[in-house]
Amino acid sequence: MKKIALFTILVYVLMSSQSCYYDKEEELYPLVVCDTSAVTFSNDILPIMNASCNGCHSTASALGGIVLDNYGSVNTQALSGNLYNSVAQINGVSPMPKGGTKLDNCKINKIRIWIAAGALNN
Ligand code: HEC
Repeated sequence: MKKIALFTILVYVLMSSQSCYYDKEEELYPLVVCDTSAVTFSNDILPIMNASCNGCHSTASALGGIVLDNYGSVNTQALSGNLYNSVAQINGVSPMPKGGTKLDNCKINKIRIWIAAGALNN
């Protein structure tokens, strides 16, 4: 009898602790906004290159012969398809950033949108 009573209490405590969860959804899962409405080379693309790529792809030290620290060179990689394919890690192009974490979807989308809009020097 005692065991059943204890078990009942235990179940009640477990269930009530579940239903008394007051954490706010927006604090647990902050809304990450990815604004792709006005992607530009200077505000979006070059900062991504500098943060994630140019440790290996600067003019001074261009691994694989790829330079990504100026508009002309990034444009060349963009138009060849290699820039997008490397960060999206598709179509057999060497996945980038090499040995690092894949760029988040927001950054990959910005690169895709910038290229689709003509890979402009904006
Ligand atoms: C740790 C060094 C390193 C980082 C960081 C890095 N790369 Fe590379 N990348 C290389 C090397 C080395 C190669 C030569 C090919 C190979 O070894 O995979 C290369 C090749 C490439 C190529 C040519 C791929 C091909 O298959 O022809 C592109 C495009 C490229 N990188 C873009 C990027 C972009 C964009 C980033 C940032 C998101 C980046 N890389 C970050 C080292 C790096």
